Order: sequence, then C-alpha cells, then structure tokens
Amino acid sequence: MKGAKMMGGLIAPHGGRLVQRVILGEEKENWLERAVAFPAIPASAVTLSDLHCLATGVFSPLTGFLNEQDYLSVRDEMRLSDGTVWSIPITLPIPEEKVEEVKRAEYVSLVDGTGAIVAVVRVESVYQVDHELEALKVYRTTDHQHPGVARLATHSSTYLGGEITLLKRLDQGIFTKYAYDPIDTRKVFEELGWQKVVGFQTRNPVHRAHEYIQKAALETVDGLFLHPLVGQTKSDDIAADVRLKSYEVILEHYYPRERVVLGVFPAAMRYAGPREAIFHAMARKNYGCTHFIVGRDHAGVGDYYGTYDAQKIFTQFTPAELGITPLFFEHSFYCKKCAGMASYKTCPHSKEDHVILSGTKVRQMLRDGIMPPPEFSRPEVVQVLIEGMRKN
Ligand code: ADX
Repeated sequence: MKGAKMMGGLIAPHGGRLVQRVILGEEKENWLERAVAFPAIPASAVTLSDLHCLATGVFSPLTGFLNEQDYLSVRDEMRLSDGTVWSIPITLPIPEEKVEEVKRAEYVSLVDGTGAIVAVVRVESVYQVDHELEALKVYRTTDHQHPGVARLATHSSTYLGGEITLLKRLDQGIFTKYAYDPIDTRKVFEELGWQKVVGFQTRNPVHRAHEYIQKAALETVDGLFLHPLVGQTKSDDIAADVRLKSYEVILEHYYPRERVVLGVFPAAMRYAGPREAIFHAMARKNYGCTHFIVGRDHAGVGDYYGTYDAQKIFTQFTPAELGITPLFFEHSFYCKKCAGMASYKTCPHSKEDHVILSGTKVRQMLRDGIMPPPEFSRPEVVQVLIEGMRKN
C-alpha cells in the first residue's frame, strides 16, 4: 500500500509502536498504595476517555498528556515536536488551586466521580496556555457558540503534561460488547484475513448517504470497520445508545456480516472539523485500518468549516507520514431521477430531484411524528429513532 508502513500483515500503528499503558495485578496494587499520597485531581468525562485512549494505544504514539513543547508544536504545526503528524492537543487542565502542589509533586493521581484513582500522571511539564489562541488554531474560531471552544473556556489555563499509567479501565457500560481496543481489532482483522480495511467515523444515526459511501468504499477493500463514536458529544446530538442501535438494525438487514466489524470509538467529539479528520484517521490507523472515509463536513458543526475543508487538510501531509489512505466522498443523497443514491460528482440532475435533510430537520420531523422518507433513512432505522425519542 502506498505510503503505509506495515507490521506483520497489518498497517503499523502511528509512530511505529502500539502504546500500552494499562497496569494490572501486583504492579497496579503497588501503584495504588503510592497514589493515595499524590495530589488528587478530579477527572472530567473527557479526561477519563482520553486516559482510556492513551492507555490502550488509540492515541499512539502518545504515552500521556502533551508537554509544553509538544502542545505548542501540535497547536501551531499539527505535529509533535519530533515531526510526527498530530492535529489535536490531548491535554490535562489542572485546577488553579492545585497548581503549586502539583509543581512540587513527582506524580498526580486522577480520580473519577466515585472517588476511585483511575490513573497516575508523571509531572513532566506544568505550563500556561492561551485559550483564545488554541481555539483559533484548533477550531479556526474563537466563537463560544462552537462546542469545542465552549468546552475549552471551562478549562483552567494551566495544563499538566506527562506520561500516564492507567490503573482502572473505563467502564463502557452498555457498549462493552463492542468495546474493542486497537490490539483486539488488529487481531480480528488478521484472523479475518483482511489486508485492506476501511474505517468509518460517525456521531450520528446511520442514514442512506452513510450507507452509500460505506458500501462504495467496501467495493474496493476487504472489510469495513464501522466505528461510531460513543465518547462525549454535544447535548443535542442523538444519544449514543440510539445511534448504536441504528447500526445493529441496519447490519441485520442490509450488510454482509462477514465483511463488517462494528466497534465503538471511546473518544470524545471535538467538532474540530479538518483537524479532527486527521486525528480520526490516525486513531483508526492504530486500530488497524488502512483506509479512512472522509465525506462532507467531517466532524463539522454549524457553518464553521467549508464542506470539503476536512478533505483538503490531508494535502498538507505526505502519504508516507499519514500512513493511512483517506477515501474522500462528495456530498451524497438519493436522486429521484437517478432512482438511486448518487452524489454531486455522479448525478446530473437538479436540487429539486435530491432528497437532502439536515440532522436538525430530521429531529424536528421525528418530534412532530413525521417519518423521514425511506430515500433518506431505512424504515428500520427510523423506528429505532422514534423509540429513542420516546425514551429521552
Ligand atoms: S461526524 O461528525 O462524525 O463526521 P457524521 O456522523 O455526520 O458526523 O458523518 C460521518 C461521516 O460521513 C463523515 O466522514 C462525514 O463526512 C460523512 N457524511 C455524512 N453525511 C454525508 C453525506 N450526505 N454525503 C457524504 N458524506 C457524508
């Protein structure tokens, strides 16, 4: 495969090595004994998911939260300080009242909502950041209506960088059945004999355009890795359990089971559009994907990004430094004249013939008891969405 470094029969993880920082058994008990004496920092839901991703190699080659040098380099250059492509700062903000204590410490412990110590972080770098500048570089806006910028504004402006050790795995609750670590999916793809695997990121219920681009991609590779994100999303996105259910029903009725693996992506959504597309691709490479789908307005929100900005950003890197191959898709839809799925690239007909509905419009229809048409969404999926609406 052009540009891709291989490891055994599979694509090499980003940076060459799959990071593994989950500690078990006696070593874990020793750490836990020591960790009670470290300064304790409460971990937010996003931090808990970042810890899980760092420890299980989803964020390889990162082994911890970014130190100052890497943070600046990622923010300004989309690279770690050694030049490796990395587009989203993975950071640990620490409460201002803890800063002096943390500076004097060798390690801190991160504590979840139940008071349990979930991880320790080695204190390597304690530094001040400029949130406005981070927002402008990462999100291309400082508008607090942007959910990523809004989240940033709730953070302290002192970050701690350092290697992590995970002592308690994230409880993935109802998603556990689909919670494969990169090491697991790599094994699965190898057993299935898949050499070319295309990854699909989503934070929405599956609709016909998703299905169309997934299947178009599958035509040219061995397998499809459906990887809906179940980490934190903005409050008006459809709940992750409903989204997952939409995938379960569609797989049952419309996909060749032997060519598809369904897993959940534990990362939090950033809504960083182009930068997040690069980040999503690197993470899927760590899971063993050789290809990654990027459609229209990938990881976008509102009107902050151009429809194809998340595709254009890939030209800033060489195929060799990306490793994974992006597969770009034009805006797709059902066309009444074509009597099938199409895109602006393949359909000559006018807008009036196209069935295009925004997520907001679909939610409104469902609230009003109107079924979105089968050209937009499979009836089985609509049923799941209606049931989901009733519950929430
Ligand atoms: S995302 O925030 O996770 O990107 P979403 O679930 O909407 O959101 O999209 C998942 C993937 O499908 C992204 O790569 C996106 O670009 C692509 N996509 C969504 N809808 C369409 C469409 N109508 N045409 C082409 N690509 C699409």
